[in-house]
Amino acid sequence: MGGNSVVRILLTGGSGTLGRHILKSGLFKNVTAPSHHQMDVTKQESVEMFFAENDFDAVIHCAALARVSECEQQPEKAIAANATGTCNLAAAVIKKERKRNKSIRFVHISTDAVYECTKGNYNEGDATIPYNKYGWTKLCAEAAVNLLTNFCIIRTRFFDPENIKYDSYATDTHSSQIQASELVKAIATLLENGFVGVINVGGEKVSDYDAYKRLKPSIKPCKLKDIQAKVSFKLPEDATLDTTLWKKIEKRHREKA
Ligand SMILES: NC(=O)c1ccc[n+]([C@@H]2O[C@H](COP(=O)([O-])OP(=O)(O)OC[C@H]3O[C@@H](n4cnc5c(N)ncnc54)[C@H](OP(=O)(O)O)[C@@H]3O)[C@@H](O)[C@H]2O)c1
Repeated sequence: MGGNSVVRILLTGGSGTLGRHILKSGLFKNVTAPSHHQMDVTKQESVEMFFAENDFDAVIHCAALARVSECEQQPEKAIAANATGTCNLAAAVIKKERKRNKSIRFVHISTDAVYECTKGNYNEGDATIPYNKYGWTKLCAEAAVNLLTNFCIIRTRFFDPENIKYDSYATDTHSSQIQASELVKAIATLLENGFVGVINVGGEKVSDYDAYKRLKPSIKPCKLKDIQAKVSFKLPEDATLDTTLWKKIEKRHREKA
C-alpha cells in the first residue's frame, strides 16, 4: 500500500475468501497473516501470545464464522468466532497501544446483515436490528471495535466471481454487493484514510440474480419465497446500502492520489 504512517499489517482470516483476495491483490505490503492455528481469535491466550511476539501498525480483521447457516445451527460457534474473537482482538490492541504509546489502525469487516434488511437503502445512522444470528454476532463484534480509538467498521456484502455456487438466484432480493476485488480496494483506501467510525461500502442496488447472471449466464431466475421455503432462517429482502459517505471519501482519496 502507498500509505506512509501505516506500515506493518496484521491480517486475520487470511485463508478465507476475502483474506485471499487481500493477499493476492498486491495492494498491501508487509502483511502478517497468521493461520487459525497460529492465532485462534476465540482464545485470549492465543491472541495475547501472538501480539506479544509480533509488532504491527494496523489490523485488518476478516476472521469470522461467515456462513449464515452454520451460525444458525451452531450459534455458540458464531458467538465465539465473531463476538468473543473480536473482543479478544480489541482488548489486545488496546493493551498494545498502551505499551507502545501509539495507536493501531483497526479495519473491521462487518456486514449489511446488521440492518433489518427489509426496506433497503440503509445509512450508517439507521437502526441496527439484525434479521439473523450471524448479524447479531457481527453487531456484537462492532460494539467491541467501537471501544478502540483508530477504527473503521466496514458494513458490506461481497462475492467471489470465481465461486458462484448455486444454479438459480432470486430476482426479488436486493443488495449492494460488490466483487471481493472491489472491496479489497476500499479496504486499502480506508486503511490509509483517517476516517474513524462506521461506513457502508457497496455498489448500486442489484438483485442476486442480476449480480450473478453477468458472470454465470447459465443461472436461472427464481423468487425469494422459493429459497426461503428451503431454509429455516430468515433471508434478507432488501439489504441495499446508502453509500454516500463512502463515495465522498473515495472521491477525495482519488483526487489526492
Ligand atoms: N462472504 C460475504 O458475503 C460477507 C459479507 C459481508 C461481510 N463478510 C465478512 O467478511 C469477513 C471475511 O469473510 P469471508 O467470506 O472471507 O469468510 P471465510 O471465507 O469463511 O473465511 C473466514 C476466515 O476466518 C478464519 N477463522 C475462522 N475462525 C477463526 C478463529 N477462531 N481464529 C482465527 N481465524 C479464524 C478462517 O480460517 P480457517 O478456515 O482456517 O478456520 C478463514 O480464514 C468476515 O468478517 C465476514 O463476516 C462476509
